[in-house]
Amino acid sequence: MCGIIGYIGKDKALPVLLDGLRRMEYRGYDSAGVALLDEGKTTVVKRQGKIVNLAVALKEHPPAGHLGIGHTRWATHGVPNELNAHPHQAGRITIVHNGIIENYAELKAELKAKHHRTFLSDTDTEVLAHLIAVERDTTKSLEAAVLAALLQVEGTFGVLVLDDQEPGKLVAARRGSPLLLGISADAIYLASDATAVIGHTDRVVYLDDDEIAVCTPGKYDIIDFEAQARQHEEHKIELELGAIEKAGYDHFLLKEIMEQPRTIADILRGRLDLEAGTSRLGGLSDPQIYHDITRFLTIGCGTAYYAGLLGQYLLERLTGLPVDIEFASEFRYREPIVDGRALGLIITQSGETADTLASLRELKRRDIRTFGLVNVIGSSVAREVDGGMYLHAGPEISVASTKAFTAQVIGHLLVGLQIGRGRQLPITEGQAVVKALQALPAQVQSILDQRVHIQKLAKKFARHKNVMYLGRDTLYPVALEAALKLKEISYIHAEAYASGEMKHGPVALIDPDLLVIFFNPKNSLYDKTRSNLEEVRARGGRLLLVGTEGDESLKAFSEDIIYIPDSSPYTQPILANIPMQLFAYYVAVERGTDVDQPRNLAKSVTVE
Ligand code: M6R
Repeated sequence: MCGIIGYIGKDKALPVLLDGLRRMEYRGYDSAGVALLDEGKTTVVKRQGKIVNLAVALKEHPPAGHLGIGHTRWATHGVPNELNAHPHQAGRITIVHNGIIENYAELKAELKAKHHRTFLSDTDTEVLAHLIAVERDTTKSLEAAVLAALLQVEGTFGVLVLDDQEPGKLVAARRGSPLLLGISADAIYLASDATAVIGHTDRVVYLDDDEIAVCTPGKYDIIDFEAQARQHEEHKIELELGAIEKAGYDHFLLKEIMEQPRTIADILRGRLDLEAGTSRLGGLSDPQIYHDITRFLTIGCGTAYYAGLLGQYLLERLTGLPVDIEFASEFRYREPIVDGRALGLIITQSGETADTLASLRELKRRDIRTFGLVNVIGSSVAREVDGGMYLHAGPEISVASTKAFTAQVIGHLLVGLQIGRGRQLPITEGQAVVKALQALPAQVQSILDQRVHIQKLAKKFARHKNVMYLGRDTLYPVALEAALKLKEISYIHAEAYASGEMKHGPVALIDPDLLVIFFNPKNSLYDKTRSNLEEVRARGGRLLLVGTEGDESLKAFSEDIIYIPDSSPYTQPILANIPMQLFAYYVAVERGTDVDQPRNLAKSVTVE
């Protein structure tokens, strides 16, 4: 979703802002803008569409200044046009804002009636700009005005504020929308995403909710909403610029699919103990936890939810404990009955998804212990869970999640192994899972090596209008995830069902125009699944099969088969998903869609 960048320092601000905006492009946006404060005057330039439009507009008369703010907007209030793009101005005040001001309509009416303010855009952000401007007339500093304004606001915000009459200062505030400060000797960078500051500095401070940062070149002070000083620990970000570049691939998505052998090795590194048949996760080191918990409650959205759904099968088998799973967007308002001894598993790549974060807070409010499976280091979920594990998948730039899904599933296996071994899982079974995990990087590589074959299949099927994915047991969540991936990046309508459910309705859709992607690798339900396959064939359905290497019998059903290596039932679903990532990717390329930034989507959904 929206991205924020700010700079105050000795260098020219404009290149820093543009570079930061480009690095956050992956988050999804529909307009972009910058504001630079120089010699007591702020110049705003903004454009609808991609950053390249903004860069062209800036080229002729690049605004000067060592202090500036920038923004990529993903429209919430008002259409994605230039007027609604950020930054927004109200007299001497200029702001960029992520989040939603929920009471903006009431505030706007009051600003019009009482203060005769006029508005140029349809946005909630412009209302906030006016509110700060009104407060600035009666307060002695910019930060005091920002505080006074934000105390009247309901909703979420990550906001950066400039004041023409305080040209040496940049003020930032946060509630429910991520914001970090990058610190160097003579500059402060502000960003909603660490990728925007990499290469400038590796020293960061994460702002907490209801905090205001007052920044000058190389210095900052943080206060809370009662104007009390706050101290924060500085963190070192380990990311390198290479991690957010395409490394020679045409798209980030392909790079992220192809680098999975390495990211899998990274998540496993130092966490497996073959002799004891278990995993070693610091966040689960208290043995009491194995006996205290009575069930798991998994929460996530989108792909993270599907990883949790697959995790339900895996965790129940490894630990003998029941697993409930819910969409975060449902959980947060449902007033669910939650077992006080459940362990809340919070699954999220970004660690900033609004519904997931709100559900985590709801669990904490009820004193439920929480454990995060999180990719982005230092993200809000990572900082708020009671314990957790980082997924170490590295930055996932493409909007569609691939390597993070794989890591989230492996995360469930690691959690299941450790809790299972602490409870009833026999050592031999634990050792078998450890071995299966150790074999994964090479097995995934062997599937990636088939990409030319998968690309040919994608070309063959790219013009289908409807696709149905069918899988059973652990392959049912894989079918859901595979369908989501195809929808997201190729815009083809795709559905997924548990294959045993097919004859309860979806079978009516089967005809030669429907592509059915069917998972039938060797496993304990192989024969039962085979009868579902017969049912599709009998109705003339067009089949693309995913099977186990060496299974020649599949050729009787279709000439279009992708083979995956024979594997443990615990890792088979991970392997079965990898060719589906490549398939979706190549279909999207064939159809000419915007693979890394598909229409209407945002990388991290930080608003409800
Ligand atoms: O950052 P999160 O894992 O919390 O994000 C959850 C979903 O928004 C995300 O997985 C989304 O479904 C992706 N576009 C999937 O490719």
